[in-house]
Amino acid sequence: MASARALDINGERLWDSLMEMAKIGATAKGGSCRLALSDLDRDGRDLFCQWARDAGCTITIDSMGNIFARRPGRNPDRAPVATGSHLDTQPTGGKFDGVYGVLAGLEVVRSLNDAKRETEAPIEVVVWTNEEGARFAPSMIGSGVFVGAFDQATAYATQDLDGLTLGDELARIGYQGQEVCGQHPVAAFFEAHIEQGPILEAEDRVIGVVEGGQGMNWYDVIVTGAESHAGTTPMNRRQDAYLAAARLAVAIAGIAAANGPHAVATVGQVRVFPNSRNTVPGRVEFSVDLRHPNADVLAAMEQALFTALDEVCDPVGLAHAVKRLSAEAPIRFDRDCVDAIKRATEDLQLPHRAMVSGAGHDACFIAGVAPTGMIFVPCADGISHNEGESATPEDLTAGAKVLLAAMIERANA
Ligand code: GLV
Ligand code: MN
Ligand code: MN
Repeated sequence: MASARALDINGERLWDSLMEMAKIGATAKGGSCRLALSDLDRDGRDLFCQWARDAGCTITIDSMGNIFARRPGRNPDRAPVATGSHLDTQPTGGKFDGVYGVLAGLEVVRSLNDAKRETEAPIEVVVWTNEEGARFAPSMIGSGVFVGAFDQATAYATQDLDGLTLGDELARIGYQGQEVCGQHPVAAFFEAHIEQGPILEAEDRVIGVVEGGQGMNWYDVIVTGAESHAGTTPMNRRQDAYLAAARLAVAIAGIAAANGPHAVATVGQVRVFPNSRNTVPGRVEFSVDLRHPNADVLAAMEQALFTALDEVCDPVGLAHAVKRLSAEAPIRFDRDCVDAIKRATEDLQLPHRAMVSGAGHDACFIAGVAPTGMIFVPCADGISHNEGESATPEDLTAGAKVLLAAMIERANA
């Protein structure tokens, strides 16, 4: 691994690029809002493509809008060693979630160019479409279609809260590419990301060598009661869908508590109908996100969700419907990729630890079709999905150095 220290990363350029990208959709509290396939997402994609072309890359876009920026290798017959993440954000997202993984990849390309270093296999930087799932659920649709976890027709038909479809929005912003999604060769995939949790910072480690990801299930729930007058309907004659949803939110938090310490459960999106302050709510639609590193425990949590729905709704005569939108099983990353990351980390003498990802990542899907590994760097207070998300230039640079070394090792193997 002599290559890890011989080749440097320009940390200042990486930081400047992150700050430049963050200006697109900049929010009042210092974050970014680039919802998937919005005009701002298009602007972010355009900027990335321009930077990648300036760095000598050729761009391919597939039918799901996934972007592949390719730096040629010495051997054109070899499949590329790829890296990347996403440029879409949460509605009140930070500057680093996803963006770091894309721009660390671009920095790998730029650094290889600076050093006039060729690799045997091509190097590619990938931007996956709609990782966040904030506008179009479920999350990781671009990489999910790529690996066959979702079918493209269903993905295209997915609607946002305004009824706009993913397919129409993809075409509208000009990112519905010619290549059939899933046909792009990938020899190996690495994703760099902020940890989005507190462990690395608390333990004073710079690199998380990610060994796998926890399981994650998403659901849509509809509770139906009856609209009635807020002033005239006695409390014992109401069929208040919001009250039931509130009880369910408490029950869902209880499911996580009962399966602790590693279980988490979130109701993050709620719509109340008719959403009028003097009408008893007749319908509530809400999302449920259940996660656990163990598939059996996650399955038990799902059963507990179904039971809670019956127990809360049936006695008061409310109807309910639940749909599982996605079920992502816990995964293990490829041993060789994990070891390549660990070797690079040790060679660079960076304090590190093994960890399991609590967040979902495109890498978790790509692991199903190519050897894959992930690199985490710390973020302040472990806070993410928040405009205040913060990471240091030093840690971001260290993660990019590890990425560069691991990719060179793989591309030249
Ligand atoms: C991705 O942002 C996730 O929900 O883990
Ligand atoms: Mn992310
Ligand atoms: Mn995210």
